[in-house]
Amino acid sequence: MPAPAAARDALKKAAAIHAVRFVEPGMTVGLGTGSTAIHAVREIARRYEAGELPGITTFATSAEVARTAREAGLPLLDQAGPALIDLTIDGADEVDPQLNLIKGGGGALFHEKIVAQATKRQIIIVDEAKMSPQLGTRHSLPVEVVPFGAESQRLFLEQLGGRPVLRVKEDRTAFITDEGNIIYDCTFGPIADPGELAAELRARTGIVEHGLFLGMTHDLIIGTPSGLRHLQRNPLTGEIRDLASV
Ligand code: A5P
Repeated sequence: MPAPAAARDALKKAAAIHAVRFVEPGMTVGLGTGSTAIHAVREIARRYEAGELPGITTFATSAEVARTAREAGLPLLDQAGPALIDLTIDGADEVDPQLNLIKGGGGALFHEKIVAQATKRQIIIVDEAKMSPQLGTRHSLPVEVVPFGAESQRLFLEQLGGRPVLRVKEDRTAFITDEGNIIYDCTFGPIADPGELAAELRARTGIVEHGLFLGMTHDLIIGTPSGLRHLQRNPLTGEIRDLASV
């Protein structure tokens, strides 16, 4: 039986609070988007206000998170952002055993990937329900496309084996990303070769970005009912270390 929302939220919060222990004074910090990452933003703000993180600056992955950070009093970089980010804390929709991810459930995948690729240490925080044997098993793949010619992208995604559904808001109008694009949520089922699919999507003009985040995670912190797990991936070898449970 799936854990009730409140119990899951407690696991997300525990993972977030643990991740924020790795934020140090003077760092440039990337702020992720979503119901898990927001706990990290609030904890960073709490520590900043308490005087524990002098000299930090932050960079938000969405307009929504920027608003939260601003309201919480965090120093926030504008649009162009920093050249390099010391540490980013973000959530994920699905995580495989190699710490590859599907992201974009909150619609911020494009900015999240820009931030992730500029980040020296990417910490992903999840509750255990996000863990999966193979990407695509638990979550559809968000694909952001420019509105011009969108129908042709829908057909392309079908030809790749996906079942694309236009993301809509509660009022049934199209969800529009921070960059003015639309999203197709594509059900693929278990994705045999995420690298190959990522390359095909990347090569298609009009597809702005997709939610496969491959080889970008440095640390994964998982909230479970029996405590936190911390996995660390060596970016050079891909080797995963299971650090002691905390
Ligand atoms: C935002 O676009 C996403 O990538 C989120 O990080 C992801 O959807 C996880 O969101 P939750 O923490 O709300 O599950």
